[in-house]
Amino acid sequence: MTKYSDYDYFASYYNKNWGTFNVPLMKSVRDLLLKNIPEKGNILDLCCGTGQFANRLSSKGYNVTGIDISRKMIEIAENSGSGVKFILGDITEYSSRETYDAITSIFDSLNHILKEEDLEKIYKNAFNSLKEGGILLFDMLMEEGFQEYWNGKNTKVTDQHVFIDNSFYDNKTKLGTHIFTIFQYHEHWQRIDGKVTERAYDLDKVVDLLRAAGFKQNHVYHFEKDLNLVNRKGRYLFVCKK
Ligand SMILES: C[S@@+](CC[C@H](N)C(=O)[O-])C[C@H]1O[C@@H](n2cnc3c(N)ncnc32)[C@H](O)[C@@H]1O
Repeated sequence: MTKYSDYDYFASYYNKNWGTFNVPLMKSVRDLLLKNIPEKGNILDLCCGTGQFANRLSSKGYNVTGIDISRKMIEIAENSGSGVKFILGDITEYSSRETYDAITSIFDSLNHILKEEDLEKIYKNAFNSLKEGGILLFDMLMEEGFQEYWNGKNTKVTDQHVFIDNSFYDNKTKLGTHIFTIFQYHEHWQRIDGKVTERAYDLDKVVDLLRAAGFKQNHVYHFEKDLNLVNRKGRYLFVCKK
């Protein structure tokens, strides 16, 4: 039984405007992940969204499965006509019988996991679902990133969209929330209201949870300082080997 997801409301807008997060990250994905797993290996992409990253991996010859909780995001992914197997499901409850050469999760997807015990479960399931020597790669936004980017009002107007966003980060609860309204023109103007809530975890806590899950070789890269990716304050890439 799948749950309601905030992403259902703006899946189509997301796909057009935000689905390309993976593009500047691909060099690091190649160097830190793909070079270290077998060609045509199998990859599980957690929180795959509309599938753009999963499809890119698939186009390079990998055997990819993507899972996401949002029915609408998965519908768009399925209609993208790739060879990826897309599954509608909640990663806090998902454990696979298959084993993978790699498991990925990008674009602060794991910040959407609001309970620490769920994050712990996801890392444990990932460890158990990886082959020996397999790699878990994911990025997360730390508090510095929420303080920098999740605090204020933002408006963007194009010929076909008006995007109005209000975001705030609460230092006490460690929760960041974006509340936004999109007016989208497609034959007529349509209004979409959306909300996304994410949690900031301490970097040390993430590493502790990974170690407790069984990952002993963990490398952490700062997007700006280590990967040369701009406007990515407080964002880290984790590469963890089983
Ligand atoms: C910022 S989007 C990233 C999507 C995709 N990784 C990308 O790069 O475009 C976050 C995604 O996480 C999904 N998500 C959030 N919580 C989830 C959960 N518990 N299980 C599965 N997917 C989840 C949302 O539906 C959304 O598609």
